[in-house]
Amino acid sequence: MILFYLTIYCINLLLWWGIVNVASSTNLLTDSKNVQLVLDPSLQLLSRKQRKLIRQNPGILHAITSGLQSAMKECKWQFRNRRWNCPTTQSPNVFGKIVSRGCRETAFIFAITSAGITHSVARSCSEGSIESCTCDYRRRGPGGPDWHWGGCSDNIDFGQVFGREFVDSSERGRDLRYLTNLHNNEAGRMTVFSEMRQECKCHGMSGSCTIKTCWMRLPTFRTVGDFLKDRFDGASRVIYGNKGSNRASRMDVRHLEPENPAHKPPSPRDLVYFEKSPNFCTYSGKTGTVGTTGRYCNSSSPALDGCELLCCGRGYRTRTEQVTERCNCTFHWCCHVSCLNCTSTQVLHECL
Ligand SMILES: *[C@@H]1O[C@H](CO)[C@@H](O)[C@H](O)[C@H]1NC(C)=O
Ligand SMILES: *[C@@H]1O[C@H](CO)[C@@H](O)[C@H](O)[C@H]1NC(C)=O
Ligand SMILES: *[C@@H]1O[C@H](CO)[C@@H](O)[C@H](O)[C@H]1NC(C)=O
Repeated sequence: MILFYLTIYCINLLLWWGIVNVASSTNLLTDSKNVQLVLDPSLQLLSRKQRKLIRQNPGILHAITSGLQSAMKECKWQFRNRRWNCPTTQSPNVFGKIVSRGCRETAFIFAITSAGITHSVARSCSEGSIESCTCDYRRRGPGGPDWHWGGCSDNIDFGQVFGREFVDSSERGRDLRYLTNLHNNEAGRMTVFSEMRQECKCHGMSGSCTIKTCWMRLPTFRTVGDFLKDRFDGASRVIYGNKGSNRASRMDVRHLEPENPAHKPPSPRDLVYFEKSPNFCTYSGKTGTVGTTGRYCNSSSPALDGCELLCCGRGYRTRTEQVTERCNCTFHWCCHVSCLNCTSTQVLHECL
């Protein structure tokens, strides 16, 4: 038992993501306002500071787990056609060994989970499900010639501040990995922040819009995922540099410099990495890659989802499957839909 806890402690504090599994499999969520956090063994995955933050913000545990769930779902969707398709497990180490590396995929996991927490917390504030925050009401008064601020803005400030405290506190160390992870965490939060949009509503007689009130709304999480996926494709490989600083001992994300001096320094919203990705082709217990055997591929695509690339040249087997779908649905007034069952044959290609 002692060994078990020591092991958890030593493989860093990267296990906090694991609460997505434990919290949903117990009654933690139904009782999130009074839960005995200190006694619940599942929350051993969190640091002391993280547990304190949860205790101080009743209702927030639910926002955290649902933010993590959205992040995992989005990660899988964005990478569904690639060799690395964001596999997750039910164990405390949700994303597996990839999180302790420094490759592009690691960068994406940090950014999307950090974005997920900020997004979910900001929205939960405006929905009133966290006791310590509300809508963001700081914008008041006229906003332009024909509109004024009003209504309930999603509380992105609270989401960002909480995210920095909660997510970043799982990082320890004084090295390139530490700086890279912190940078990518912040890139995730910044992406949520910078995609906030104004939404407005018209008042006045029959839609005349004589009075317009507006508020700030979070982007959809798909928008955040799309942006981060673009940044994954254009991620910068960085090294630790000391340029322009005589305080070399102080760790700061500003010390991250592009490995290739001809490249621009990464902007705060860019993803950064410092290690080449494995090829993700075959199973390896050592690196924690599951490989692409058994994955479905597209035999006519020349892209990454095509059988040639996805199966890493090993070839594939083809089988047919009968699929039954609802089809020719008709709507009957009122209110009932009837459908036929159409059976078709689908050809599936599976990597060897
Ligand atoms: C397979 O790839 C081709 C060419 O890129 C594309 O037109 C087709 O829609 C893909 N099929 C599926 C099932 O995704
Ligand atoms: C579905 O409806 C269309 C037009 O109403 C018809 O031509 C077709 O045969 C129908 N399909 C099936 C499977 O019944
Ligand atoms: C379609 O299939 C479902 C389930 O197999 C069945 O309950 C339903 O009656 C079928 N509908 C028709 C129109 O055959």
